[in-house]
Amino acid sequence: MPATSVIGVQWGDEGKGKIIDLITDRADVVVRFQGGANAGHTVIVGGEKFVFHLLPSGVLHEGKLNVIANGVVVDPGQLLGEVEGLESRGREIRSRLAVSGAAHCVMPYHKRLDEYREGRKAGVKIGTTGRGIGPAYSDKANRSGIRVWDLIDEDRLEAKLHANLDEKNKLFTRVFDGEPMRFDEVFEQARVWGARLAPLVRETGKLLREALAAEKHVFFEGAQGLMLDIDHGTYPFVTSSNSDSLGIAAGAGVPPRAIGHQIGVAKAYCTRVGAGPFPSELDGEVADRLREGGSEFGATTGRPRRCGWFDVPAARYAAALCGLDGLAITKLDVMTGLPEVGLVTGYRIDGELYEDYPVDTPMLERSEPVVTMFPGWTEDVTGATRYQDLPQNCRAFVAEITSRLGVPWEILSIGPARESTILRETA
Ligand code: GDP
Ligand code: IMO
Ligand code: MG
Repeated sequence: MPATSVIGVQWGDEGKGKIIDLITDRADVVVRFQGGANAGHTVIVGGEKFVFHLLPSGVLHEGKLNVIANGVVVDPGQLLGEVEGLESRGREIRSRLAVSGAAHCVMPYHKRLDEYREGRKAGVKIGTTGRGIGPAYSDKANRSGIRVWDLIDEDRLEAKLHANLDEKNKLFTRVFDGEPMRFDEVFEQARVWGARLAPLVRETGKLLREALAAEKHVFFEGAQGLMLDIDHGTYPFVTSSNSDSLGIAAGAGVPPRAIGHQIGVAKAYCTRVGAGPFPSELDGEVADRLREGGSEFGATTGRPRRCGWFDVPAARYAAALCGLDGLAITKLDVMTGLPEVGLVTGYRIDGELYEDYPVDTPMLERSEPVVTMFPGWTEDVTGATRYQDLPQNCRAFVAEITSRLGVPWEILSIGPARESTILRETA
């Protein structure tokens, strides 16, 4: 059976966690393949709220394997905390969780470096989540990183940690006028993490290839979203991985052709946390309504999210780049009550009209959005179970999005809970 990818096609927080949890009943395996604890994926089941940063959002389903693959940067303390947090809520998951030995670790010095870099006066401020993501991926690319396999082997850990900490401490004290970190403290902490993680460690690439060969249904859960992709997003205001389906093969150790079906998750409007261009950004009453109505506050950092209209050229770019087969459009309920709902249909840049998304960030920064307005709807949509139950104007808005993207909808989400969903196959 071909694998399915579920990825964000905007600037993150599209509702990937909800969608993955919803469709995990059809999966055998759910895989995180990139990013780290910068992700915050919210799942609401039976009125109970869960926020996953490193755990795949399929963990609430019994009998499904959850994999943290090699492309993820793993903060060991965070991961163990999430596992124990679920255990304290009566959910055992260790027996169905596998962590790649080849995944790189986010170490305490990565988080400090993230903080120091963001705090310096000169240079670009990205508004990162402070989870050490950029520094951990930098060490991976520098070939100096500590992998999970190193963490669980004390000798390897000691040698690698010495080399890393020597270098980082020079940076902390000489470049950032900050404090050094003590080797013995970091080593002791890392040693304990390694011992506790060891039973979960697997060669996950092999495991996934075998699962695919055995016709298991594998779901790949993206973190962040395409517009935050390090190669294809609004660089430098991006995260440090390929945060869409382009990262799956390398980040999970599977052949690219394994991904047979691609679902892009998009909100019915857009949000962005952190710095960087966001052409459709709104301020004033509409932005406040979207932010309050959609609880648009970061699941990882609590920061208020910037809100704007759905950006058609950006989503069309994402659809073309990833080859999306279907859309999951979330948060339609949040738009209820707006007299008019908008779509960004192009940009005006230096006096010229562009219908395509400009990949050069400074161009995007200079762009003025061209917004087309459509009539809104006032009827409550939260109880809808079929497409026909949605108000006419809401359906027309969905049809505008799908026809402009050339991608059909598969899932419409009208509330945070599992049941607040319309599936095309049952609509
Ligand atoms: P993710 O990072 O893509 O998984 O998204 P987040 O969990 O960071 O943010 C999405 C937020 O919207 C969460 O609080 C979800 O519970 C919530 N949510 C998801 N789908 C819907 C929806 O259709 N309607 C409403 N009102 N909330 C939703
Ligand atoms: P999920 O998976 C929204 C943003 C940060 C910052 C930039 C770089 O929940 O959709 P980083 O800490 O990765 O170095 O920060 O990326 N960012 C996210 N924004 N949702 C996320 O994840 C994000 N992960 C990172 O705000 O602008
Ligand atoms: Mg999120």
